[in-house]
Amino acid sequence: MIKIKGIQKEKFSNKKILLRLDLNIPLSESGAILDDTRIIESKASIDFLLDQESKVIVISHIGRPKGKYVENLSFKHLLKEIESRLERDIVFINFEDQADTLKIIDSHKNGTLFMLENLRFNPGEENNDKDFVKFLSSISDVYINDGFGTIHRNHASITGITTEKISFGGILLEKEIQNISECILSKVKKSIAILGGAKISDKIPIIENLSKSFDTIVISGGMIRPFLLASKKITTSSVPSDFKEIEIAKKILSNNEKLFIPNQLVCSNSIDEDPVLLHASQITDSDNIYDIGPNSLMEISNRILNSDKIIWNGPPGVYEKDNFQNGTKIIIKSIVDSQAKIKLAGGGSTVAAINHFNASEYFSHISTGGGAFLSLLEGKFLEGIEVLKQ
Ligand code: 3PG
Ligand code: MG
Repeated sequence: MIKIKGIQKEKFSNKKILLRLDLNIPLSESGAILDDTRIIESKASIDFLLDQESKVIVISHIGRPKGKYVENLSFKHLLKEIESRLERDIVFINFEDQADTLKIIDSHKNGTLFMLENLRFNPGEENNDKDFVKFLSSISDVYINDGFGTIHRNHASITGITTEKISFGGILLEKEIQNISECILSKVKKSIAILGGAKISDKIPIIENLSKSFDTIVISGGMIRPFLLASKKITTSSVPSDFKEIEIAKKILSNNEKLFIPNQLVCSNSIDEDPVLLHASQITDSDNIYDIGPNSLMEISNRILNSDKIIWNGPPGVYEKDNFQNGTKIIIKSIVDSQAKIKLAGGGSTVAAINHFNASEYFSHISTGGGAFLSLLEGKFLEGIEVLKQ
């Protein structure tokens, strides 16, 4: 089990705390917050630190501005919303004030919450540049990372800074790492992982790592087609983009008996046309697979209901469309009804689907991470975690 240096037994009063969060929250085109989970989940560490009368300097990135100022990715537009979610006033410090940052922080009393502008406006953040690390270090006494979603990145505010400062992992970070590792490592009678996603190549390391400890791996979403082609359940394809994925699928199938690949599918020529229910052998090049059919779903549901631990990443169908949401509904319902103690989900579209069907309270843990969550499932070496280990 991974153990990081946590904060809950430490004292931080009168200290300037640099608190790295992942406030890379999804925004609509007009800039409205689409999901505030990452803000809400950072409240525990913020409250804990401010209650101790420390100064908390929140740092985060949002979007990918590539080292330049991008007006609509400025945190100043989100400040009021973040303040209201955290139920706190925030002193906002933008990069024009970089030289004055320390002065601003020192001029306020203990117990103040500060927030710096989007870190990625500065090229030093993603380049893990020494000068940028020095700047971050110069404004703080202690560093705490509570931005679980960023833990797979090797950036100044994630790894660089830990060479300069005493470093800890925040309350959310500890919770995420503990719940995810427990799910992978805990020994139970029956376990199931349901994995979606478009590209097999992205998911091979996860399939391989989870196959070591899980009894069933359900393949869903865009990966179904190449797997059915590789196992010759779909007989032909002349779609060149399938070929590489088929080769990969063949290799995985040749030494993995744990995979369950649905063979009754909900298809259509296009997303706006009426669905048809097809057996794999009936599927041709022009049929797009948009969901899993009821017979295959029944099998998946039974396996979920008989499992003691469940991981879910990747909706099985296009749940935003009424015609193609049955698979997502049934998988959620089966997880809700299951007696499993461990019910873990993560990844942007999976979390959005869970919220769409108001089911979040039925999961034992929903990860705030996308890439970070997947990297942990892969069993990857994550430098952002390594630097915080006990
Ligand atoms: C995320 O949302 O996955 C993290 O905030 C990391 O963002 P990135 O993929 O742009 O590095
Ligand atoms: Mg990402």
